[in-house]
Amino acid sequence: MTEALPFSQACENNKHSILDVLRRHLLHKQSLLEIAGGTGQHAVFFAAQFPQLKWQSSEYPPAVDTLNLRLSQSSLPNLPAAIAIDVNAATWNCAVVDAIYSANCLHIVSTTAVEKFFAGVGRNLPVGDLLLVYGPFKYRGEFTTDSNAQFDLWLKSRNPLSGVRDFEWVNELAENIGLILLEDNPMPANNQMLVWRKTAL
Ligand SMILES: C[S@@+](CC[C@H](N)C(=O)[O-])C[C@H]1O[C@@H](n2cnc3c(N)ncnc32)[C@H](O)[C@@H]1O
Repeated sequence: MTEALPFSQACENNKHSILDVLRRHLLHKQSLLEIAGGTGQHAVFFAAQFPQLKWQSSEYPPAVDTLNLRLSQSSLPNLPAAIAIDVNAATWNCAVVDAIYSANCLHIVSTTAVEKFFAGVGRNLPVGDLLLVYGPFKYRGEFTTDSNAQFDLWLKSRNPLSGVRDFEWVNELAENIGLILLEDNPMPANNQMLVWRKTAL
């Protein structure tokens, strides 16, 4: 009997809008690390769109086998099995990449883990390369919509350490590791797609 694949309706809804942004940035990139690949829907869809790009997905160690259920059914040559990466780890066991991508992770993990995420990006992203982050953000302490405020309450009811993050705080963490914000794209469903380039500090 085949095991049911994990599925996120949100991934189906947002993948085309995210693709529009990725097309501006990834057409000439050779390798990308995805943090918190989740169901693998993004990895399978985007790897097919960028055949020149090795799409290396990863997940929190307890969730990596679930992510690989979907990836292992794909025959895409540029989509290897996902690797285990906990953003909190002092080292990420990954190869050097041209870009790092993560969707809907920073509001799930704790603020400490968000800081560790940027520390990991700082260690693993070469100068000149890109960080792309998708998800909801607050601006100057305000939610962009009532539904994001409700979403924040719901997140905190599940885990008090989760929460929609302040753009300004996240961008400061990014600047501290030498990232310069290139784009803040408003996306459907009250999300943003942030794109930074790494510069020498
Ligand atoms: C809301 S899901 C997003 C998944 C997928 N990127 C998407 O857009 O559907 C949040 C993901 O963060 C992962 N996660 C939680 N804690 C993590 C950690 N410490 N390190 C890496 N990933 C983590 C979860 O396993 C989960 O897959």
